[in-house]
Amino acid sequence: MTNDELVQGLVDVLGAERVLTDPDVIASYVTDWTGRYRGTTPAVVRPRDRDDVATALRWCRDHRVAVVPQGGNTGLVGDRFPSRARSCCPCGDSITSTTWTSSRRSSTWVPAPPSAVFGSTCGASASTSPSISPRATPPRSAVSSPRTRAGCTCCGMDRCAQVAGVEAVLTDGSIVRTMRGLVKDNTGYDLPGLLTGSEGTLAVVTEVALRLIPDHPYRVVALLGCADLETALAVARRLRHDVSALEALEGFFADGATLVSDSFGVVVPFDPLPPVLLLAEAAGARDPTDQLTAALNDLGDAVTDSAVAVDPAGRKTLWALRDRHTEAIAGQGIAHKLDVTLPPGRLALFEREVRALVGSFEPPSRCFLFGHVGDGNLHVNVVGPDPDDRRVDRAVLELAASMGGSISAEHGIGTAKRDLLALNRSPEERALFRSIRHAFDPAGILNPNVLIAD
Ligand code: LAC
Ligand code: ZN
Repeated sequence: MTNDELVQGLVDVLGAERVLTDPDVIASYVTDWTGRYRGTTPAVVRPRDRDDVATALRWCRDHRVAVVPQGGNTGLVGDRFPSRARSCCPCGDSITSTTWTSSRRSSTWVPAPPSAVFGSTCGASASTSPSISPRATPPRSAVSSPRTRAGCTCCGMDRCAQVAGVEAVLTDGSIVRTMRGLVKDNTGYDLPGLLTGSEGTLAVVTEVALRLIPDHPYRVVALLGCADLETALAVARRLRHDVSALEALEGFFADGATLVSDSFGVVVPFDPLPPVLLLAEAAGARDPTDQLTAALNDLGDAVTDSAVAVDPAGRKTLWALRDRHTEAIAGQGIAHKLDVTLPPGRLALFEREVRALVGSFEPPSRCFLFGHVGDGNLHVNVVGPDPDDRRVDRAVLELAASMGGSISAEHGIGTAKRDLLALNRSPEERALFRSIRHAFDPAGILNPNVLIAD
């Protein structure tokens, strides 16, 4: 099949308005957010609804055309761009983009990006008591709206605990729907759990039910300075124990904070900057400020600097120092982005070793670290080596795996780490992954370049 025949076939079943072919329009779909991954495709399909998704998938399955489901195109591991290198179809991939935004339901039911639901409502904070409320009052504002607990700036990311239900279209056009949204539902395989984080390899998710959490009226953010990561982790442990209303525990370092400040003019409350910064947020039905400050007083000189904000503007400024790391690092060039979790007790050792490791690479490289220290999750960003030179990626991930860690805490495997999956997953597990994939997608058309290297 030629590209023209591919486009004509999709137009015949979907209508011309649903099939994008203009190279200028397509450009934004085939380049990933980091600028590191670029692909090509003869067509981008923009389905209106699940019936369009079903029609497109069935046609692609029948004609052996690979499909890359794409949502916001904000992936960090090359998991959402079409690459012909390993396409199942010699004429190339077509992207099924589901970036449409209209909600067909109440505010509790959030339209999903395809397959990987992480980050669909990113920016939310954690809570310890998830509840589903399908008739929730519509959000009044970003601050007071119900929140998810997606893989984000939380202590305790739940890969799928917040996903209460999914609707997904299989490659034969059939639709599976598990949307009862029950807290307990032990009726066989857990479909939402299987599809969450499956990187678009099993089905195209067209709807998700998310457990939303009512926001709390009182909220306080503290930025704390510590001499080293070991001390910061000890402080984090104490806060977890002593502050029942704790919602987030994030960590970063002086170099990253300086970069964010220099890049965006975000005010840093300390001069000089302490080597390690810990950001803690607590929230509750009652004001948690006293509880937090009492815990901080008990910490003695483990905390060298502290700034506390209770008003929205102050909290936003403190969070900006953490949240704008990715953006600030992107301004330094195309970074090698590695996302690891270490077992409790090994994070500080990993930090020392990864800095030494990256320091040994040529050309001289900079290593920015930040992340969700409450989860043992560090984002390792290396700027310096050529984006296509993957030696530093392998070395960092081998180090994490050798210390009992995960080579992907949040961001997935994608194309970036598919050759390294064996660092974490046994041959038996990888064989099972292939079988699961084959059961969902016997023709092998869905995002064929990611997750498993054959
Ligand atoms: C963050 C993204 C990069 O934590 O996972 O900011
Ligand atoms: Zn993260």
